[in-house]
Amino acid sequence: MTRDFFKRTSCRACLAKSLTPVLSLGRQPLANAFVRAHDLTKSEKTFPLAIEFCGRCSMVQLSHVVNPAVLFADYHYLTSASAPLIEHFSSLANTIASHVSVHDLVVEIGSNDGTLLQALKGRCRVLGVDPAKNVAWRAVSLGVRTIPTFFSNALAEEIVRKEGAARVIVANNVIAHIDDLDDVVRGVRTLLDAKGFFLFEVHWVGNLIGKGGFDQIYHEHLSYFSLHALSTICTRFGLVLADVTVVPIHGESLQVTVRKSGSPSRRVHSLLQKERKIGLTRVSTYRTFARKVETTRRTLRTLILDLRKEGKTIVGYGAPAKGNTLLNYVRFTSKHLTYITDTTPLKWDRFAPGSHIRIVPPERLRTHRPDYILLLAWNYAPQILEKEKVLRKRGTKFIIPVPSVRII
Ligand code: TMP
Ligand code: ZN
Repeated sequence: MTRDFFKRTSCRACLAKSLTPVLSLGRQPLANAFVRAHDLTKSEKTFPLAIEFCGRCSMVQLSHVVNPAVLFADYHYLTSASAPLIEHFSSLANTIASHVSVHDLVVEIGSNDGTLLQALKGRCRVLGVDPAKNVAWRAVSLGVRTIPTFFSNALAEEIVRKEGAARVIVANNVIAHIDDLDDVVRGVRTLLDAKGFFLFEVHWVGNLIGKGGFDQIYHEHLSYFSLHALSTICTRFGLVLADVTVVPIHGESLQVTVRKSGSPSRRVHSLLQKERKIGLTRVSTYRTFARKVETTRRTLRTLILDLRKEGKTIVGYGAPAKGNTLLNYVRFTSKHLTYITDTTPLKWDRFAPGSHIRIVPPERLRTHRPDYILLLAWNYAPQILEKEKVLRKRGTKFIIPVPSVRII
């Protein structure tokens, strides 16, 4: 792919050509492209951000795909920086370990900084695959063998030749980042031992539509999966979607087990049934969601503009990628939010992409007491409200934007 982005014209899950647009969030820069001060005057690259629905298999996907070389050029998301993920991965490692012996090969697609494989090392042979070289290097320095490239069927063939088939293949929070799913699923089929299993986790579209926020839509997330769409892909490749559980990661994620033979568990049937019941297979559900998102935009914009007219100071709390989708969709700038605090030193003194609001250390809130705080890291609301008790006692109010605007 030599262009920066392209319009996807077919469903990634069933290859149907008729997709229905349901929600557009406008043209936006990449959600993780925090801007350095000396680049502020340069124009930013922006890309269309919109989702489409496939009426044939219930897949939801972005209308446009950004070239992965552009998207992941400066990737600095580290699994090990998230305490809940470390805990989740260590229990996942124990589950996997109970199914393998020391000679078995476990391959992780999108192994990031090696958090999961490190926990498995010594209990089986481990091999990571991750194209983000700066991140893969960290895994290697921890002693986790990592191939710094994209997973593909060609790579799977090479691994089988050199190391034999894999007893387990794992892929967490990475399947939604892949455009050419066919090549990856074909690669899984090539690499997987006849008795092995493929275990992966993806954010569930039911969470996006229900309790989740539209701000989880950004260019890195190409697919918003239902179990229906996942089961369509498995069927096309002669694989069995053997089991599924809903896990509390990023709201609600699906933890899916795929095998080469057998039949789907009762849990698979009941989740498919639930998806039909809550309307994930109908376009009208996504249209209702889009209307709700537009209401959030109007409510939030009116609220912030009114508060600014009254002379109130407003700042942002947390600068996650999703916060940038929200800020750019609602078209907020430093005229609306004076600054955004974040605990990540890498983000300090950079500016949020698009909105160009400065990111500062959280200590700023100890010397400057704003009237209102827009909670961009709303997924941590309970912890943050508790942590900021003193600030709230002194009169600062929190605005929680998602799933609907609330002031606390
Ligand atoms: P995440 O949702 O990908 O974990 O990102 C959360 C972001 O919010 C991350 O940049 C760190 C930031 N953050 C704070 O600034 N303060 C907090 O108390 C928490 C929990 C997160
Ligand atoms: Zn489809």
